[in-house]
Amino acid sequence: MRTSPRAIYSLDYLRAITRKNPGPRHEAEPKNSALGYVRPGRSYRPGSRRNAPIRVSRVSVAPYDRLGRGYSRVRQPDPRIAAQIEAALGSARTVLNVGAGTGSYEPGGREVTAVEPSAEMIGQRPPESAPVVQASAEELPFADRSFDASLAVLTVHHWANLAAGLAEMRRVSRERIVIVTFDPEALAELWIASDYFPEILSLKRRSEATSSELAGLLAGATIEPIPVPRECTDLFFAALWGRPEKLFDAEVVRPMWVWQSISEEARRGGRERLRADLESGAWERRYGHLRALPSLDVGLRLVSVPCAQPESEG
Ligand SMILES: C[S@@+](CC[C@H](N)C(=O)[O-])C[C@H]1O[C@@H](n2cnc3c(N)ncnc32)[C@H](O)[C@@H]1O
Repeated sequence: MRTSPRAIYSLDYLRAITRKNPGPRHEAEPKNSALGYVRPGRSYRPGSRRNAPIRVSRVSVAPYDRLGRGYSRVRQPDPRIAAQIEAALGSARTVLNVGAGTGSYEPGGREVTAVEPSAEMIGQRPPESAPVVQASAEELPFADRSFDASLAVLTVHHWANLAAGLAEMRRVSRERIVIVTFDPEALAELWIASDYFPEILSLKRRSEATSSELAGLLAGATIEPIPVPRECTDLFFAALWGRPEKLFDAEVVRPMWVWQSISEEARRGGRERLRADLESGAWERRYGHLRALPSLDVGLRLVSVPCAQPESEG
């Protein structure tokens, strides 16, 4: 039988992390005692469902319960993007991964705790991945300054309240916040949006969570581009910049929020135009040069924010 180290927390540890002000500061340290599935109002059953998530706060409707089916099959973390995230996390030993999904980009060699609202996404987390708490960014069930760093990758545009989620990340972080997001202006120059699926440019959620929007809400933020490799293993929408054929793969497009957010008519029309251009060679003539590039800036951005030390700590 496969056993997993995740979701094995001591009851004391859970009591500490699930209260915002637990008195003496706890160490965010998993202990090696068995703990079962914890729900508000339910009793704790030692040893039961060791791999189940710890559910401690109200979770808003989780769109990824529907959208997330098959996510981990096509959204494998890309090692080059992962390396840039690792570098941004610096020397942080304890990391909270918010909107953690199926566990992509959870840095190795550090003590990671995941927060994810969707049961579907949690169910796809590998057994060896970090312990996960089923909760939302807007209401993180941890004491102030519980983690060295908090991380949020390709999730902020989904949050019901961006400012509240960012304030929560700041509250629970001692040293640094690292966020990966998309800037849609860059997408406007990419053939996928400009020539075939222009509707994606008007998706409001995305335009509200740009790197400059985040920097406006998080004082001291720096922004750096993340070049997306041509053979990026994480098949998000813009990662197909040099692989138009993948837009016809149902498994690839099914978990894409961008794809599912535009109308069926827009999807069908764009795909018909793209198919015709691929068959006639028109796409190749206009954009075939992209197939030779190793990577491209398609608007992926890393936002990094140092957290101020409280005055009492000098
Ligand atoms: C595109 S997935 C990204 C998952 C993972 N970070 C990755 O890079 O693969 C977006 C994730 O954000 C989560 N999410 C949506 N709303 C959220 C919220 N309010 N708080 C935290 N996570 C949220 C979704 O459930 C989903 O797992």
